[in-house]
Amino acid sequence: MKILYHSVLPSITKAMLELGVPVDEGENLLGKSTVADHGDLAIACHSLSRTLKKSPAEIGEILSSILIPLLDEIANISTVNGFVNLKAKDSWLEEKCSEICNDIRLGIPLSSNPRTVAIDYSSPNVAKEMHVGHLRSTVIGDSLTRILEFLGNTVIRENHIGDWGTPFGMLIEHLLDMGEDSDENELSVGDLDGFYKTARNKFDSDESFADRSRARVVLLQSGDEETIRLWQVLVDESTRYFNEVYQLLGVLLVDADLMGESAYHHLLPNVVSRLNEQGLLKNSDGADVVFPGGHLNRDGEPLPLIVRKGDGGYNYATTDLACIIDRVERLKVDDLLYVVGTPQSRHFEMVFSVANQAGLLNDSNTTVHVNFGSVLGKDGKVLKSRSGSAVKLVDLLKESVSRANDVIGDKNPDLTGIERENIAKAIGIGAVKYADLSTDRTRDYMFDWTRMLSFEGDTAPYLQYAHARIKSIFERVDSDDWKSSPIQIINEYESRLARSIVSFSDAVESAATNLMPNRICIHLHEIASSFGSFYENCPVLNAEEISIKNSRLLLCDTTARILSTGLELLGIDAPNRM
Ligand code: ARG
Repeated sequence: MKILYHSVLPSITKAMLELGVPVDEGENLLGKSTVADHGDLAIACHSLSRTLKKSPAEIGEILSSILIPLLDEIANISTVNGFVNLKAKDSWLEEKCSEICNDIRLGIPLSSNPRTVAIDYSSPNVAKEMHVGHLRSTVIGDSLTRILEFLGNTVIRENHIGDWGTPFGMLIEHLLDMGEDSDENELSVGDLDGFYKTARNKFDSDESFADRSRARVVLLQSGDEETIRLWQVLVDESTRYFNEVYQLLGVLLVDADLMGESAYHHLLPNVVSRLNEQGLLKNSDGADVVFPGGHLNRDGEPLPLIVRKGDGGYNYATTDLACIIDRVERLKVDDLLYVVGTPQSRHFEMVFSVANQAGLLNDSNTTVHVNFGSVLGKDGKVLKSRSGSAVKLVDLLKESVSRANDVIGDKNPDLTGIERENIAKAIGIGAVKYADLSTDRTRDYMFDWTRMLSFEGDTAPYLQYAHARIKSIFERVDSDDWKSSPIQIINEYESRLARSIVSFSDAVESAATNLMPNRICIHLHEIASSFGSFYENCPVLNAEEISIKNSRLLLCDTTARILSTGLELLGIDAPNRM
């Protein structure tokens, strides 16, 4: 509870001075209590034992006797096993909670040092199916965009699609063979994988097709007008499909965010010459490479980052170096985030290291590989469709919406028509996103329809339902008197809910600093369950006194706002009815 931390810190400093402990050493001992029942914060006295020549328990007693009068208005103090526990007093909580309930930002301050952040996310490949990894990148990147913007940072979304390189020779030739408008053209029906695979098979088995494809790459690189037109057809077909997925998902990405590999093509010779000027370029088997150091291949030899291949072609890494130049020098970005799966960790480590050595980054720049684990099927292996191919994302999302529709049919058959459709979409899409965002992103997670669509547990439907339930209370309230009423805490349920309310900002801040949207999920789940027990135990509309009723209504309203704000930061809708 940051707000409590800041309120007690001056007194802790004073107490430490009195004890003769250096101030920063003393302050470092103050942290979150590990046992919630003991308190909100705790001071661990163990490390002071040596300097003060007393047992931790004795130090705890002395410290607490100094702190009790100092913190009389803020916290109750208790000691156990060398810990001094601080638990916010209800009177103090009432005051803080009242402030937050009446704050449109729910106690979340704007950043005092806003940054310009480029978030590289989604980034699927043209003429290939988006896989579940791209789903993760899209959902996580989108949530980080919302969180960082909410805190006042400027976010530049970069959808770095794979739209350039040698495969385009064969893809264009295959497109010509099929006929641009032909019905058999899988692109037009959105079967990107089928299209890619057929082209690849032809390339591997038909010598003359392979020759044509290679010649086509040369034409593409040299900017031949007709070739570029055909390439554009492929790009347009694919981005149309990507947009279909984005729209279903309800993410912020639009065409203006497209910044594919092709956009950096003209900068690649410049990357090579800048690396050369810095004396970083080496020749290895005819290729231009940089040895960033710190990475070894299987034989224990230094691993190079290949910048230009022997045949003159550039690499994925070269494009990423060009991206860095563009983002730092043209866009004046402070932080460069890359929401990409863990398998590309080495690639990013090497690219960042070369960029640093080549002076492409300023001291104020940070580069972060916001990595994530895999989505697994029930068999514990990377999620695949029944036929063993990549899962088609549109199908997966549509299936989720249709399953949500079935669930609504059971739960609330009164919902019909367009309203039911919208709610099914909010639940179905929300469930998929939440399942993804609520796990620590660096871990793998198992895709499980039943679990993610359940109205119980750590799921989107549980949170959405809690929100809708609160909204329904207000259908029976006809005055606004509760709006600026003071919060009253008269029992433990209100006290727990008030704690969840005042610490919402900690969760959002922690999600932003650690680039971990799951911190918000954890908090939303906590507040929804605090609300659950509050609502079960505290009559709201039939409260014994009007002031209590108003305070409870304000707690309800704030909980709903935290749920909808938190869900919005995750990119999930919170319908008013369910
Ligand atoms: N297109 C790549 C892939 O599908 C991801 C690109 C990530 N972004 C980047 N700047 N390298 O694996």
